[in-house]
Amino acid sequence: MSDQETAKQAAGTQAAAWVESGMVVGLGTGSTTAFALKALGARIQRDGLSVQGVPTSFAAERLARTVGIPLTTLDAHPTLDLALDGADEVAPGGALIKGRGAAHTREKVVATQADRFVVLADPSKTVQQLGTQAPLPVEVLPMAATPVQRRLEALGATVELRMGRGKDGPVVTDQGLWVLDATFPAGIDDAPAVRRALNDQPGVLDHGLFLDLATDVLIGQPDGSVRHETW
Ligand code: A5P
Repeated sequence: MSDQETAKQAAGTQAAAWVESGMVVGLGTGSTTAFALKALGARIQRDGLSVQGVPTSFAAERLARTVGIPLTTLDAHPTLDLALDGADEVAPGGALIKGRGAAHTREKVVATQADRFVVLADPSKTVQQLGTQAPLPVEVLPMAATPVQRRLEALGATVELRMGRGKDGPVVTDQGLWVLDATFPAGIDDAPAVRRALNDQPGVLDHGLFLDLATDVLIGQPDGSVRHETW
């Protein structure tokens, strides 16, 4: 296993250990959270832990079924004890960019409903300023892609429509929409202002700026230890 995989696994295993019997847990998307879901599935099978999960994507739902995590919905459980998820960037204070896997809209819904939103990452995800390493994903109605692109360009970004791999044409999200990836050449100077602009833009379903949501960040390390920050 590479150093990065070891770090991801350390964060995922630590997060799974925080889950207690009776909890309802948000199940994030991505390779780091996959380690948490596998570790949680193992605890359920081994220790008889009674846990239900709300998945943030088709990918998370499929993995949860594979590893034996019983599933539920926000209709049945509007408030979650814990949500576990990865990130593309983690800035000081726990501000995030998410959405590399195009799951950020459901991820934000689930994170917002959780008492604790625990972010799992490896050291490569930590940045001093958002937008310096990862593009900001924006999920849009296809008919609104051009107006939203112009809005993002007015905010200083260069914009690309995310294209499929293994499919011709654009990536189509779990909601049937498209994703614009916005790159800010000098990073995102004023993240709350960008969030406001995108929240106010018709045609945007949601975007990958997660500000003021994380309560805990677990940064796995290549030696298998975990750095915990909490707010
Ligand atoms: C999914 O859309 C993303 O928000 C992921 O949670 C994020 O990209 C982290 O994925 P990795 O753990 O694979 O880096």
